[in-house]
Amino acid sequence: MAKIWAGRTDGAVDLAADGFNSSLPFDKRLYRQDITGSMAHAAMLGATGIITEAEAEVLIDGLSGILEDLDSGKIDFDPAAEDIHSFVEQILTERVGEAGKKLHTARSRNDQVALDLRLYLREETDRIIEAVKLLAGTVTDKAEEYKSLIMPGYTHLQRAQPVTFGHHLMAYVMMLLRDIDRLSDTRRRINVSPIGCCALAGTTYPTDRFYEAEKLGFEGIALNSIDGVSDRDFVLELLSDIAVLMMHLSRFSEEICLWSSFEFRFIELSDAFTTGSSIMPQKKNPDIAELVRGKTGRVYGDLMALLTTMKGLPLAYNKDMQEDKEAVFDACDTVKKCLEVFNGMIGTMKALGSNMRAAAAGGFINATDLADYLVGKGLPFRTAYKLSGGIVAYAQKNTKTLENLSLEEYRSFSPLFDEGVYDAVDLDNCVARRTSTGGTSVGSVEQQIAYAREIIGA
Ligand code: ARG
Repeated sequence: MAKIWAGRTDGAVDLAADGFNSSLPFDKRLYRQDITGSMAHAAMLGATGIITEAEAEVLIDGLSGILEDLDSGKIDFDPAAEDIHSFVEQILTERVGEAGKKLHTARSRNDQVALDLRLYLREETDRIIEAVKLLAGTVTDKAEEYKSLIMPGYTHLQRAQPVTFGHHLMAYVMMLLRDIDRLSDTRRRINVSPIGCCALAGTTYPTDRFYEAEKLGFEGIALNSIDGVSDRDFVLELLSDIAVLMMHLSRFSEEICLWSSFEFRFIELSDAFTTGSSIMPQKKNPDIAELVRGKTGRVYGDLMALLTTMKGLPLAYNKDMQEDKEAVFDACDTVKKCLEVFNGMIGTMKALGSNMRAAAAGGFINATDLADYLVGKGLPFRTAYKLSGGIVAYAQKNTKTLENLSLEEYRSFSPLFDEGVYDAVDLDNCVARRTSTGGTSVGSVEQQIAYAREIIGA
């Protein structure tokens, strides 16, 4: 395929250099956005009289025919083409003749590629938001199911205080809601039209940038043409949103792996989301969770790659920026796949309630409540804390729990103790009393569930 830029040179390029330069193998996935953008451009050229309305019509018809043929697979991408932009223009000119050569008036591939990528990522962002909402809904449903199931809550991976499994799950929902918010915010900045910035300096033609932006559903236009073709912040923002989202999925995955281990046995994953071992017959491995955790590293890599590519670039467009696409495509593809399988894995996950409850009953996770009980009897918290620590040490030494120490034993530490202490250290009561907003009581978790459902719209 002849080069669209043959002129200053004869367009002959070294074969290896040509392949190295080509972005078609990966930017062909932008064909729909490229053609849609070109149709809007042709309409603008016609509406402003830069070309005739009849010519614009020929271009638009030709473009829609190419779109149809690519959709149906009637034509294929020419591997010799340099990129999706030159490929479409070349086919158009082959099909409609002279008029095809007018499409690129008042435009450059620099604003064109920025336009295509913004259109593509706008749709991808919407898809990712939908998938996060779906997952947030699934986790919220699980939280509802397990809003009274007591488990040990951890800090430093040491048993800390009793919480409910529903409360713990809702913590992840809150993260996902922030992910949705971040993605929605990024979408606003993606949704700005760069078309009409041309190569970098704007144009001498009487273009109407607002006409094109409106036709393509943009909220506004890039207000500085040099910035409009140089800016890849929107790609970096999306990559960073996805990196944070993957970090959340990865932490969740880590807990899934822990909880499904023989040491914890807090949950049982559906067989459909685990694998066996080729040698150890007893194994049921949480591969899906492990892979999501693993792919998080890969998505961080995508973000780091583009941040590094961009950091030293002078204005305006530089070919380095062609590297944006593979990174962001990979991150979008990866996160969508992760969200899909993760949703299935959580939806079919079962809590092993009695194991959770048994783990909560050991480890003195009601010691804070013991101290709070003494505070209720008039002791300052620090004094109560110290006294309770001594009781825990005593109980541990005598292989007892706070629930089964005798009242005499309690009273040997302080005369303030009475029968009420058993109510105070009862695990169900410990949870039920934490009615503070955001806390672990059933009522507090129900509020969190209602808040989440309002945002998710489920
Ligand atoms: N393939 C290029 C990219 O992805 C398109 C823009 C090319 N512009 C240029 N002046 N060579 O960035």
